[in-house]
Amino acid sequence: MPIPVWDYRGEYAVERETILEAVERVFRSGRLILGGEVRAFEQRFADYCGLRFGVGVNSGTDALFIALKVLGIGSGDEVITVANTAVPTVSAIVSTGATPRFVDIDPATHLMDADQLEHAITPRTTCVLPVHLFGQCVRMERVQAISRKHGLFVLEDCAQAHGATRHGTMAGAMSDVAAFSFYPTKILGGYGDGGMVVTNDEALAARARRLRMYGMERESFAEEHGYNSRLDELHAAILLTKLDRLDSYVERRRALAARYHEALAETSLVLPQTDDANLHAYYLFVVRHPKRDRIIDELAKRDIAVNVSYRWPIHLMPAYRWLGYREGDLVYTERVMQEVFSLPMYPSLSEEDQDRVCASLHEILQIIDDGR
Ligand SMILES: Cc1ncc(COP(=O)(O)O)c(C=O)c1O
Repeated sequence: MPIPVWDYRGEYAVERETILEAVERVFRSGRLILGGEVRAFEQRFADYCGLRFGVGVNSGTDALFIALKVLGIGSGDEVITVANTAVPTVSAIVSTGATPRFVDIDPATHLMDADQLEHAITPRTTCVLPVHLFGQCVRMERVQAISRKHGLFVLEDCAQAHGATRHGTMAGAMSDVAAFSFYPTKILGGYGDGGMVVTNDEALAARARRLRMYGMERESFAEEHGYNSRLDELHAAILLTKLDRLDSYVERRRALAARYHEALAETSLVLPQTDDANLHAYYLFVVRHPKRDRIIDELAKRDIAVNVSYRWPIHLMPAYRWLGYREGDLVYTERVMQEVFSLPMYPSLSEEDQDRVCASLHEILQIIDDGR
């Protein structure tokens, strides 16, 4: 049987009844848009993060875009982030009219190297956008200290970090405002698109609420130019049922990660490293090897799928060439992208399948290490 890199069907088989009950409740309620399910999910997810306000939107990309807008970021501003992230982190910045600037990553964790932040600050910098990649938090205390010193906003991209913590603080609660995605593959993933802006700041939350609904506070009357970016009742109701299980999803991912660590410790793969202050939620289990592409081909022959996050650095993509970066500008970002790939990781991955992945890797690496 093929082993996919991600699959929701095992989870659906277990949670089917609860999910369908939620769907039925919404369909019978007479309210499909911005009703009680969205309100309940916003509050409960904000509570989960240890924050006061949540504003449901229709994707993680929109959560980033709206979070930037509520901070007043736009044309003329520079926002510092990394080129080792999903494209939407950068496209959200560009959609506001602001210019993304990139700092390199720490090659051990693949996360923003906070020590380089200060070199990237210019008089036009107004915001820092750290990405808690693969389920692990950036060194936020350093990001916060530098941002405070230079009067910059901080927006966390938490699309891959539901339930991750740093020094015991939840991802999303270490900045002015944070953005989550509920895209199906995510640690808290829906059955369609969804996202949320979370914050402790009442005024920012109120503005996010306005922007997601055509700039309105009351019906058919725009206070400011806005958008249509609503989380549906249906998705909110399903996500509410899954929120109850979020801690168990993270636990399961961490248990699978511990099994990978144990089984692959003696191989030539570079395994993921966790910063001591972090609780890693393992959205992805990312490994490195110089013969990455050959390993992927060999795994595919054995019906095992892997993922490459990410194969191409954003600063060198055609869409963002106008930013003026060249090959060699972000040394570690470019280097790790030639070697990374991520192993199957989702709560319903069976130990039997995981053992097959590990046994196949042992077999393939033996051949490669022997120079065959
Ligand atoms: C780091 C990161 N930021 C932003 C996003 C965008 O989220 P969405 O796909 O919900 O728009 C994603 C997901 O693809 C992501 O992984």
